[in-house]
Amino acid sequence: MAVINIEEAKMQVDQKGWLDVAVDPTLDLFSEIERLKKEKNAVLLAHYYQDADIQDVADFIGDSLGLAQEAKRTKAEIIVFAGVHFMAETAKILNPGKKVLLPDLKAGCSLADSAPTAEFRAFREAHPDHIVISYINCTAEIKALSDIICTSSNAEKIIESLPISQKIIFAPDKNLGAYLKKKTGRDMLLWNGACIVHEIFSVKKITELKLRHPSAKFIAHPECEEPVLRMADFIGSTTALLKYTQSNAAKEFIVGTESGILHQMKISSPEKIFIPAPPETNCACNDCPYMKLNTLEKLYLCMEYETPEIIMSDELLKKSKIPIDRMLEISRQYGL
Ligand code: 13P
Ligand code: SF4
Repeated sequence: MAVINIEEAKMQVDQKGWLDVAVDPTLDLFSEIERLKKEKNAVLLAHYYQDADIQDVADFIGDSLGLAQEAKRTKAEIIVFAGVHFMAETAKILNPGKKVLLPDLKAGCSLADSAPTAEFRAFREAHPDHIVISYINCTAEIKALSDIICTSSNAEKIIESLPISQKIIFAPDKNLGAYLKKKTGRDMLLWNGACIVHEIFSVKKITELKLRHPSAKFIAHPECEEPVLRMADFIGSTTALLKYTQSNAAKEFIVGTESGILHQMKISSPEKIFIPAPPETNCACNDCPYMKLNTLEKLYLCMEYETPEIIMSDELLKKSKIPIDRMLEISRQYGL
């Protein structure tokens, strides 16, 4: 491996968001990452949407809620986060004294991008009688402007924990918001954001696929649009979708979410068939382009050089922690 010094590493991260260092192709990155974990007392947390190789080397794989809970629980000194920026930020908020590493700082999220701080602050101020529930897929600045954070695993319970008369703003995902409005019967004001991955599924192609696989169950993430959700046999967070495929007797599943989750579905039910739900065009757009910025090489390099690191101001850390703690407490009360 080409060796660089700390200053060069810092410059590269400032310019590119990741370390662009040639890695010896003969290096066994799996054992190198295991070695670095031990040497540095580091834990590797990965989202289900990461590449299969990254999932295979992770200490914990989960959905957004599971990862936040694991970040809170860990005793490791360094948290290496194989996911996107808002997830690593959440881990940092829960562990202000620890080093939190993200292989590529440009691993963002279209939902988080859809809620700029100034516009959101103005929206909030225009509705002072509303409580703000924000989906965890948002920046720390938006979290600091929110009353409670939720994920797709606990959103319904969090909404139901509030008095029926409570006015609610739900941000930033309009599709998840619309789904929750329908499920809970609450009148919520929705921010107009969306996930680029979950908005590309084709109703026409899913219908054709269902005709060709009549016994297959179609399962979908609630970030999908309403016409897609209407076709689903089951709707849930990534963890809920995985559990459904484990417990349901069906032998075939059409999966309406990011394709990374298929890896764990195939591992836990090797006898079953999993078909990614088709997008409108013949693109690979059910791969999240942000999640997939992380690679095994970048992961190894960020552990070796301990950069890129999530850095936040003390004030932002403090303010954004309050609504996350509320989410974790409500989730605990409901046994989630
Ligand atoms: P969950 O992890 O809550 O299922 O959300 C999926 C997602 O889009 C994460 O970015
Ligand atoms: Fe964001 Fe969608 Fe990618 Fe999740 S899948 S990180 S919501 S763009």
